[in-house]
Amino acid sequence: MKILHSIKECKKWRKSTVGTIGFVPTMGALHVGHLSLIKTSQKKCQNTLVSIYINPTQFAQNEDFSSYPKTIESDLSQLKALHVCAVFLPTDNEMYPNNIIDNFKYENSLFKKLEGKSRPHFFYGVTKIVSKLFDIIKPTHTFFGEKDAQQSRIIKQMIVDLNYNIDFFSCPIIRNIDGLALSSRNNYLNREEQKRASIIYKSLLLIKKHITHGDTRTRNLKQIFLKSILTYPDFKVDYISIACNVSLKELSVWRPNSLISAAVFYKKIRLIDNIVI
Ligand code: PAJ
Repeated sequence: MKILHSIKECKKWRKSTVGTIGFVPTMGALHVGHLSLIKTSQKKCQNTLVSIYINPTQFAQNEDFSSYPKTIESDLSQLKALHVCAVFLPTDNEMYPNNIIDNFKYENSLFKKLEGKSRPHFFYGVTKIVSKLFDIIKPTHTFFGEKDAQQSRIIKQMIVDLNYNIDFFSCPIIRNIDGLALSSRNNYLNREEQKRASIIYKSLLLIKKHITHGDTRTRNLKQIFLKSILTYPDFKVDYISIACNVSLKELSVWRPNSLISAAVFYKKIRLIDNIVI
């Protein structure tokens, strides 16, 4: 496995690599969810490159940039065990030289919905870094997780809008045995807390149950979610949304193939999850 630190090394690797290149961008603290994207890439592509970079521009001042989990030794050994071809580990100075945030400007109609309402800076930072990485790596394929459904939709649209010649794949959410969606931020929670946090998924499933019983008014369905979560102490719902899976526009009545997504604070840790029904 090649470990690439600089853009120069990365471009050299790219030039000397023959065949399809699957790219999996991550911020590290790798878990089975990340590994599932990598395995999908390995099935579809001749080469797979994983990047690990905690991107400062997608965090707001009050967010967890400085405390974001870092497990680089374990990350590298997991990637090695999977026989990943290359891993790109750029520094801040490599991605944002002299601390200059370049004036890359991209936006689409999905930015301000859902996550964008609570984290208005977020998708500007994500698209900036993903576009930079696409330009450096020039992958033929890229793999994102449905765990971050809105991020997936936005990157898919960015690929079209900016004419990247990249095949986009969105991969299913991987959960632990209790149903909690795997996330690097779960590292902030102990075992018992992670067990409790599975109430988020269970409450999404409760919505699903009510839909199958014919209750389709989203106001009622959202109340069911809130009531279920708020029986637990230390949980605060940031949002619960039932939206069109394509436009992300809120629906007043559920219809098939809706994205039901939520962000919930548990002891100040912000967790997101979703199901498509
Ligand atoms: P990160 O949170 O590390 O996630 C990297 C990729 O793994 C994303 O595509 C995410 O959706 C996927 N992923 C995370 N948890 C998952 C799970 N439980 N099941 C399936 N896939 C999962 O998302 C980012 O990093 C960053 O925003 C990034 C795209 C790297 C840009 O900085």
